[in-house]
Amino acid sequence: MTDDGKIPFVDLVTHHLEIEEELVSVFRSALKTAGFVGGPMVEDFEREFAQFCRVHYCVGVGSGTDALRFALIAAGVQAGDTVVTVPNTFIATTEAISQAGARPDFVDIDERTYTMDPEKLRAYLETDCTPDRKTGRVVSKRTGSPVTTVIPVHLYGQMADMDPILDLATQYNLIVIEDACQAHGAEYFSSKQNRWMRAGSMGHAASFSFYPGKNLGACGEAGAVTTNDQELAERIRMLRDHGQVRKYHHDIEGYNGRLDAIQAGVLRVKLRHLAMWNEQRRERARGYDELFADAEGTVILPHVPSWSRPVYHLYVVRVADREPLQKDLAAAGIGTGIHYPIPLHLAKAYEALGFRPGDFPVAEQAASQVLSLPMYPELSPEQQRRVATAVLQSMPVGESGGLRYRSEPRLRPVGRQQMRRV
Ligand SMILES: Cc1ncc(COP(=O)(O)O)c(C=O)c1O
Repeated sequence: MTDDGKIPFVDLVTHHLEIEEELVSVFRSALKTAGFVGGPMVEDFEREFAQFCRVHYCVGVGSGTDALRFALIAAGVQAGDTVVTVPNTFIATTEAISQAGARPDFVDIDERTYTMDPEKLRAYLETDCTPDRKTGRVVSKRTGSPVTTVIPVHLYGQMADMDPILDLATQYNLIVIEDACQAHGAEYFSSKQNRWMRAGSMGHAASFSFYPGKNLGACGEAGAVTTNDQELAERIRMLRDHGQVRKYHHDIEGYNGRLDAIQAGVLRVKLRHLAMWNEQRRERARGYDELFADAEGTVILPHVPSWSRPVYHLYVVRVADREPLQKDLAAAGIGTGIHYPIPLHLAKAYEALGFRPGDFPVAEQAASQVLSLPMYPELSPEQQRRVATAVLQSMPVGESGGLRYRSEPRLRPVGRQQMRRV
């Protein structure tokens, strides 16, 4: 809680003050060696984050957007390819596609998890594309270009349903790049592999963002690509560093997309706390679940399928009439967010792609109803109780927009309990 009693949407100040000494020592040691770019801090972080994600390779880069762009280019995406993703993601996903020279296309999401609906992907590949026997790929009827790649987005800290997406990718010869920018440590139970797998370890490559508000955030901009493919990792190492194999030997044209050494040091410090922070987020999520347990139909809670262990980058509820609720919460000093208000197929930036309202109805409805409540490891049960009370007091009586509304908030104390949703 801030001094004025407000509950911010995220509290990055408390978060950093708690580990201030550890962070300051990173700056001190960087000053002593003046090793600001590359070097052991970057290499150590890359090794440790690869271990955390249970992959062979991690390549640190300048941001999550760079991570996506480099992963696409290194995986072989060509100018003019069509790359399929979902409309309800941060624009960086589609920016990276365009910056790699490809063209974004979309499939709709599952209405309960908000991640890519594998059945919609199947329908897209079967009916919106035609097979090209020469290349073994499919060609999008809409874009007229080969569909080479799919980017499932692990949204809000929960992984997409990867088994069927990977099956389709194999069947249709697609590259799979995971957008894991919001999912550090999230897990998926793969029935095919009969084990829990971490975000970043299932596709050909995956991108992570370490933007400060992420579950693992730098004190500035940073990102990484993870992969089990050694050649792909080597190509990304070149792309991030002007295409160099060694100083001034440029085999290809690349970018200045390196991970800053001080940020790598910061990330090493924070990585040691990440499992605990993720567990605390899960506990906060269980707390909200309990507090809203009697508001079923009024406040739609995050859905966690049995194959998912999310890390709650965000705790996103869904309500029929979001605007008055968000205003009431703001008046009560409670910060909220909307992730995201405009699905990308309707964003002005993509007008030229020619999409219309109604093209992706599930994503469009979610965009108009989702609300992200305060969620961070330092959030206290008392703060959560205040948030829940304010939410339930703001709800109108009666029925609206397909979500049932209750009149009286009935709150239960927050307690530790096993995750009971499947
Ligand atoms: C889903 C998603 N993709 C990509 C990105 C881009 O990451 P960055 O901001 O580090 O470039 C973000 C970050 O906000 C994100 O949430």
